[in-house]
Amino acid sequence: MNEMPRARSTYTQEAEAIFAELDARVSAVFEEVKRWRGWQVVTDPTTPREVIIGLVREIFRSVVWYQSHTTEAGFHWFGRLPKGDVKLIQALSHHKAEEAEHGVWAMEDFGKLGGPSTQLAPSPATFAVAAVWWRMASVEDPLGYPGPEYLFEQLTALVTQAALPIIESRDLPRDGLRFVIEHATEDVKHATFFKHMIMDVASRYPGSGQAMLRCFDYFHQVYPLPVWDEALVRALKGD
Ligand SMILES: [Fe+2]
Ligand SMILES: [Fe+2]
Repeated sequence: MNEMPRARSTYTQEAEAIFAELDARVSAVFEEVKRWRGWQVVTDPTTPREVIIGLVREIFRSVVWYQSHTTEAGFHWFGRLPKGDVKLIQALSHHKAEEAEHGVWAMEDFGKLGGPSTQLAPSPATFAVAAVWWRMASVEDPLGYPGPEYLFEQLTALVTQAALPIIESRDLPRDGLRFVIEHATEDVKHATFFKHMIMDVASRYPGSGQAMLRCFDYFHQVYPLPVWDEALVRALKGD
C-alpha cells in the first residue's frame, strides 16, 4: 500500500476539520444515491436480475468513457505540485498507477455482462466528468486534488460494499462484477490513504483545504448521479 508522505503524530485542527467536512460531504452524496431511482431499482427484490445487470453494465460503460481521461488529468494535476514535495508526489503517483487499469476492468466486465464491442462516442455526462477533471488539472490549485479523489474513493467504497449483499442475494454473475467486488476492499484502503493524505496536506499547507472543498464541489456537480442516471436510462431503453 502507499506510504504516507511524512509521518506526523498530529494533524492541525484545521486539517482535521477539512477532512471531517469532506467526509460529511461524501456521506451526504451517498444519502443522495440511496434516494436515487436507480438505487430503488437495484435494491427492490422484485426487480428482474436482467434489469440490475443491465444497469451495472451501463455504469461500467460510463467508467470506460471517463476513466482514462480522469487518470491522465490526475497525473497532470498533481504533476503541478511543488516540485520539492517528492514524497507527496511519489505517494500520489503510486496510488494513481494502481488506479490506471481500472478502466480495463470496467471494459472487461462490460463485455462479460453482455455489452457490445462496438464503441460509441462518450455520453454527455461522462464527457462532462472528463472535462471537469481536465479543467481542474489545468487551472486549479494542485493541493485541491485530494478533495475530488476522496469523493471517488470513499463513495466507491460505500457503494460497492452496499452492493456485495445484493450480489449474494440476487446471485448476480461474479465473473462480470470484478470491478465491484475488488473495489469493495481496495477502495476502503484507498479512502484511508486519502484521509491521511488530506490531513497531511492540510496540516503542512494551511489554507489548502479550501481548494480541496472547492474541487470536491466541482466534481460532484457532474458525478455520480448525472452519470449513473444516464446509465439507468440507457439500461431501461436497452441501448
Ligand atoms: Fe479504482
Ligand atoms: Fe481506488
